Amino acid sequence: MSTDMSADTDAKLKEIIAEQEEIFVRRQPKSQRLAEQAKQHLAGGVTSSWQITAPQPVWLSRGLGSKVWDVDGNEYVDLHGGYGAALAGHAHPAIAQAISEQAKNGTHFAQPTPDAVAVAAELAERFGLPQWRFANSGTEATMDAIHLMRSITGRDLIIKIEGCYHGHHDSVQVSVAPDEEDAGPQEKPSSAPASSGIPRAITDLTLIATFNDLDSVARLLEEHENEIAGMILEPVMMNAGIIKPQPGYLAQLKDLLRENGALLTFDEVKTGLTVGPGGVTRQENVQPDLITLAKSLGGGVAVAAIGGTAEVMGHVAEGGYEMVGTFNGNPLAMAATRAMLAEVATPEAYRGIEKLRQRAAAGIEEAIKTNGLTAHVVTAGAKGCVVFAPDTVTNYRGFLGVDDRYSHAHWLYQHNGGVFLPPWGKIEQWLISVQHNEADIDRLIANFAEFAQAVRTRTEG
Ligand SMILES: Cc1ncc(COP(=O)(O)O)c(C=O)c1O
Repeated sequence: MSTDMSADTDAKLKEIIAEQEEIFVRRQPKSQRLAEQAKQHLAGGVTSSWQITAPQPVWLSRGLGSKVWDVDGNEYVDLHGGYGAALAGHAHPAIAQAISEQAKNGTHFAQPTPDAVAVAAELAERFGLPQWRFANSGTEATMDAIHLMRSITGRDLIIKIEGCYHGHHDSVQVSVAPDEEDAGPQEKPSSAPASSGIPRAITDLTLIATFNDLDSVARLLEEHENEIAGMILEPVMMNAGIIKPQPGYLAQLKDLLRENGALLTFDEVKTGLTVGPGGVTRQENVQPDLITLAKSLGGGVAVAAIGGTAEVMGHVAEGGYEMVGTFNGNPLAMAATRAMLAEVATPEAYRGIEKLRQRAAAGIEEAIKTNGLTAHVVTAGAKGCVVFAPDTVTNYRGFLGVDDRYSHAHWLYQHNGGVFLPPWGKIEQWLISVQHNEADIDRLIANFAEFAQAVRTRTEG
């Protein structure tokens, strides 16, 4: 099978998708009713636009351990993980206990509590940056990081990587997933607004570089000498499948920015605790000026963290930038985060995840080989995905060439076979939690093998 599809192959694949979507909807009559009913008072019938997925949103009733159940009673091995936020799995006893104990003692004060000190100290130890503050979402964390880079340098321009996502505030809603037309020439990518409602005046302040391409950053620094506050990137790209940095890239990037008086933020909202105890920062041994964390940090509770060097956070401490928020360091969030760091994201848990990572990668690679699929597996700790392309993808333009129709057919096969992967085709990844086991991974592999066999036999016929 090749990703250069003939019209006949294309039609067969559409046929497979139509069949699987029909099974999907048949299994979920209550979800279908709720989806309709919800439209009356929930805009679009969901609570975030990313929940609108084909063929219909899945309404969940509960989660426990590595599983979730939909409102129709169907059980799934949950590898969606709430878009990468459920590293703890569901209803983890340590998280549940921390939350219920704190709930009995009050859930909100807008004054610091001792848990915040313990959490900040542990993050400093893991990520190597001495000073921390908290927020409530990844969006808030990256917004603060960019404000800080601008505030410290007194410069307005920032550099962002094409294809990275950093949340939904104006400065980073630029060239997130542009199509070929909007993306501009590869040697000079455009600053393409990622959404309506983003003023052009703000979009123009965000310059676009290419992942794994130091020259693209050097060019911008030269063209805008002494005007660039800093750069933000996902040190392993995780909103375009998984794209890893080439050896030396992150370290050289840091040096290049420093030489030009610009700061560096690693957005580890998605990578963070999921790739390892101290994120990509520790794995690659490159210390940025700022790190942003969210998603899995709070064991499933909304929390974010911003870490910085003594110099950067000294600016906050001295009042140079007011980093504020009513719910920052909320006691419930801090209690859950403390439990997450102390009792859930432990060395033993990471050893377990590593075994499952290897099992998933080997099993799926085997099915790819057996069925002659043009695809490969990419993993980073608890995260992983199948890329339907022959070669390693190194930047967003390579990712644009990955065929998305296979991803949706695969997602449907997994879902109908009792494994919940994140929707959105080639963009997202699975997340193995500390509560998954070998049987869960074997279900993932078996479903993939079934999908691969169906694609081979149906498209070859
Ligand atoms: C790398 C990255 N940064 C920031 C965000 C924004 O986080 P949130 O959705 O919590 O605002 C996301 C969300 O997917 C993300 O993947």
